[in-house]
Amino acid sequence: MRKQKATNITWHAHKVSREEREKLLDQKGVVLWFTGLSGSGKSTLANEVAYKLHERGKLTYVLDGDNIRHGLNKDLGFTPEDRAENIRRISEVANLFADAGVITLTAFISPYRRDRNFCRSLLKDRFMEIYTKAPLEVCEERDPKGLYKKARAGEIKEFTGIDAPYEPPENPELIIETDKETIEESVNRVIKKMEELGYLHG
Ligand code: ADX
Repeated sequence: MRKQKATNITWHAHKVSREEREKLLDQKGVVLWFTGLSGSGKSTLANEVAYKLHERGKLTYVLDGDNIRHGLNKDLGFTPEDRAENIRRISEVANLFADAGVITLTAFISPYRRDRNFCRSLLKDRFMEIYTKAPLEVCEERDPKGLYKKARAGEIKEFTGIDAPYEPPENPELIIETDKETIEESVNRVIKKMEELGYLHG
């Protein structure tokens, strides 16, 4: 975890509050944190949920692994330290989006419990952890980016599930077994859970 460097800085309260923005948008600013192996369906599900919510007039934004690593986090690799910093920065960004009132969906492998729990500690009850669970063999069979093949051939090191660990969530708000249900069923379950948590009203 990076240390605070700057001194002589003051936190400013905004004139328009998060609650006022949420009222305007008729939704809560929340983070839906999708975690799971590469190829387990995080991005696909996050995007489908965002699409369905958008159709219902909700403001959403998807933050996803490959995209963020092209910009904000392009200086980071896949060591445990770099992954921790990756998730720390994303958590801070997601927290700002949620404060803006946006339904923020993140799709990162985020293999370490500690890193995911950091985001939970920032968002508290505005954090929904969704574990896209699929056996390694299924993810490897899907191999949408051909990366498991490369990892097996030794061309990529520290690949999650092959020679780097994945720590499954202990108490996620939802577990979606992406090899056992249809995408429509999964999307509906996520949205139902959001309704139960009161996220879809300001
Ligand atoms: S995380 O572990 O730090 O959360 P993140 O979700 O940002 O990972 O990025 C994962 C994506 O980077 C994968 O979907 C894959 O496309 C790519 N990738 C490249 N090298 C690796 C690696 N060694 N381990 C996992 N993913 C990798």
